[in-house]
Amino acid sequence: MMPHYINATPDPSRIMALAALMRPECRLTILTGAGMSADSGIGTFRDTEDGYWSQFDPRDLATKSAFLAHPERVWSWYQWRREQIRNATPNRGHLNIVALGERLQSLTLVTQNVDGLHQMAGSDEVIELHGNIMRSKCHLSHQFIREQKWHPDVAYLPGPPPPSGHHPDGLARPDVVWFGESLSPNQIEQAIQASCHCDLFLSIGTSSVVEPAATLALLAKSHGACVAEINPQETPLSARCDLIIRAGASDTFDALMSTLDAD
Ligand code: APR
Repeated sequence: MMPHYINATPDPSRIMALAALMRPECRLTILTGAGMSADSGIGTFRDTEDGYWSQFDPRDLATKSAFLAHPERVWSWYQWRREQIRNATPNRGHLNIVALGERLQSLTLVTQNVDGLHQMAGSDEVIELHGNIMRSKCHLSHQFIREQKWHPDVAYLPGPPPPSGHHPDGLARPDVVWFGESLSPNQIEQAIQASCHCDLFLSIGTSSVVEPAATLALLAKSHGACVAEINPQETPLSARCDLIIRAGASDTFDALMSTLDAD
């Protein structure tokens, strides 16, 4: 189910204000969440999905204990999500972030998304706080699994998780950070550094409720950065933002790039 927008059209005066912050010397840090991929047809984490999986709360599936108790159910849910992503393409928001990076002194992209759409759009060196759903690893040894049989043309089918091949009892699991697991110290450190050393911090399409990502914007603010939010809905971060654009990511980036091009 697609999210409900409060305002679909970005306010022109706020787009002008955002464009004014995008000077070539600007060091920009962007944090994206599930709303970034909504325009690619991928449901946000807290949306209610239609169909079979609507009976489950994602927060009850994305845990190690759920995988151990119901490996086939959890693996099949991830296969279903992978199948959604296999059929998705980056949207104008993803593509315009790449174009924006070419205009600025530095752009660091941090994402909570596991779909890899930023990389597909052409962003490299993306800091993936929550991993990448298209990769798998052994649930016991955490070694990555080479999945040559998984090709973009091959559907992701439900079923039990295959053996990992790295440990006699090891099963394949997605390389994502489950609830209760720690983030990669390397990724979080890079995200903290990028937040402490930016002029503008842009929070896009995240409900800003999951730590430590939610804290990154406040860290940037405490180090003197301007904090802006692009989200059709209010979030706990909104009250702390210097600039808020209540619209979808794609529409906002279209308007922003047109304004920058007109300068
Ligand atoms: N453009 C921008 N924002 C949008 C759009 C859009 N087109 N559509 C929806 N949104 C906003 C919603 O208003 C909401 O605030 O995206 C946000 C999505 O919130 P969540 O589903 O909570 O996603 P996210 O913040 O990324 O969740 C963080 O929590 O459950 C974990 O690991 C999971 O990475 C996820 C993390």
